[in-house]
Amino acid sequence: MSRMSDLPVLWRMLRGMERGGDHAQRLEGFYAGQAAAYDRFRERLLHGRDELLARLPLLPGSSLVELGAGTGRNLEPIADRIPGLASVHLVDLCPSLLAVARQRIAARNWSNVTAVEADATIWKPPHPVDVVLCAYSLSMMPDWRATVANACGMLKPDGVLAVVDFTVVDPATAQLAGVPAQPSLLRWAWRRWFGHDGVHPDPTLLPYLSDKLKTGHLEIGRGRIPYLPLRAAYAQYIGRP
Ligand SMILES: C[S@@+](CC[C@H](N)C(=O)[O-])C[C@H]1O[C@@H](n2cnc3c(N)ncnc32)[C@H](O)[C@@H]1O
Repeated sequence: MSRMSDLPVLWRMLRGMERGGDHAQRLEGFYAGQAAAYDRFRERLLHGRDELLARLPLLPGSSLVELGAGTGRNLEPIADRIPGLASVHLVDLCPSLLAVARQRIAARNWSNVTAVEADATIWKPPHPVDVVLCAYSLSMMPDWRATVANACGMLKPDGVLAVVDFTVVDPATAQLAGVPAQPSLLRWAWRRWFGHDGVHPDPTLLPYLSDKLKTGHLEIGRGRIPYLPLRAAYAQYIGRP
């Protein structure tokens, strides 16, 4: 596929996320025109997802929920394990991205995977689950603390919450991860740049998770931004309530 398929994504990112309407309307307005091109572009932008997925304790019979699952792309790297899982719920507020997820589920014939249009802050699974995944979704949720609380509430006693997302590295985050902090001007610039597209990396996320959960894995990396000579910081986190 040519780079022409990036155009709807780039155009939408240049225009940014609308400010009017409610959260679900803003998401749909932002993603509707780029749903078909979403996966290809985000493959080069949303780093660390495959590494985090490889660390998840998804044994036969396990249950998985992804909150803010978008197109369901994150099932691809673990596709061989999906048929053996008890259940997978892909939860998202954006109908256009969920339509892609439903096509994927049908194409793969995954009868144990369900795409649910719902708000991650309040949706509940039918039974407690083993793993909850939030991949680049908390930074797009105004009330991400409610989603973390909801995720923890739906886990089995030995379940895990796994998060990968953009971050800015302030001194507290740097200390937790054992990496150098970013200068404050750079942190401000990244937050402005991401904020244009409705992405809000919150420096309090990792300290909050580390405080609320028992940390099993915490790592900060830097990944390329397509077309730009920049690398954005992202965090991988796995913890147990
Ligand atoms: C950057 S996308 C990431 C999608 C997917 N996890 C991935 O790795 O490609 C963020 C997703 O979070 C969803 N989202 C944002 N707020 C949400 C909410 N309150 N409830 C459910 N989904 C939400 C968006 O619709 C979008 O699909």
